[in-house]
Amino acid sequence: MRRRPVVLRSACGRSIPLPVERWRDEATATERALLAACPGPLLDVGCGPGRVVLAAASGGRAALGIDSSPAAVAEARDRGAPVLQRNVFDPIPAEGRWGSVLLWDGNVGIGGDPVRLLRRARHLLAGGGAVVCEVEPPGSPSEVLDVCVCPGGDEATGPWFPWARLSADDVAAVAAAGGLVVDAVQYRSGRWFAWLRKPTGPVR
Ligand SMILES: C[S@@+](CC[C@H](N)C(=O)[O-])C[C@H]1O[C@@H](n2cnc3c(N)ncnc32)[C@H](O)[C@@H]1O
Repeated sequence: MRRRPVVLRSACGRSIPLPVERWRDEATATERALLAACPGPLLDVGCGPGRVVLAAASGGRAALGIDSSPAAVAEARDRGAPVLQRNVFDPIPAEGRWGSVLLWDGNVGIGGDPVRLLRRARHLLAGGGAVVCEVEPPGSPSEVLDVCVCPGGDEATGPWFPWARLSADDVAAVAAAGGLVVDAVQYRSGRWFAWLRKPTGPVR
């Protein structure tokens, strides 16, 4: 039998496909190359089934994944990934000492407020550390949506939660509001990644 796609359904009637099978796969060559460039230690926020944090840890990097979903964390642990079940806005080990915070695969949308999330990520980083944040392609809108996950692509069953999409066009303004500086926006294998640095020294 063919599996039905999992979609994120918005309250305004849109369907956004979720690449669940990819999350269960291994990290791609592009993701491994990005990981190699990330200063450590690495915190993968919203790590899902853990493929990215597993690739980092298997490569000898100090890395931790966090995810608020017990099912995702159980799946990640079964694969041997170093993960904690944690909401990113709750206390996390080594706050202020992470070299990189990863927000990949749309995870800058967590909580529906990218400025709040980037401020939180900034707090988690050591001075000079980086948020590596996947964004929507230039030309696409930034938006905040009320969404729910529809496991069979069917009717929305809830719970509803806020989610955001951040365009590459808006990342500099949102990063500045979050106390971060854009070092680079890179196109890699059909995806866009922004490197946002936490400046060293006092906040002005
Ligand atoms: C796009 S999926 C993860 C995909 C994964 N990063 C990957 O590349 O394979 C988003 C994940 O964020 C998690 N999440 C949502 N809100 C969260 C929060 N407040 N704190 C931590 N994780 C959260 C969800 O449980 C979900 O597993």
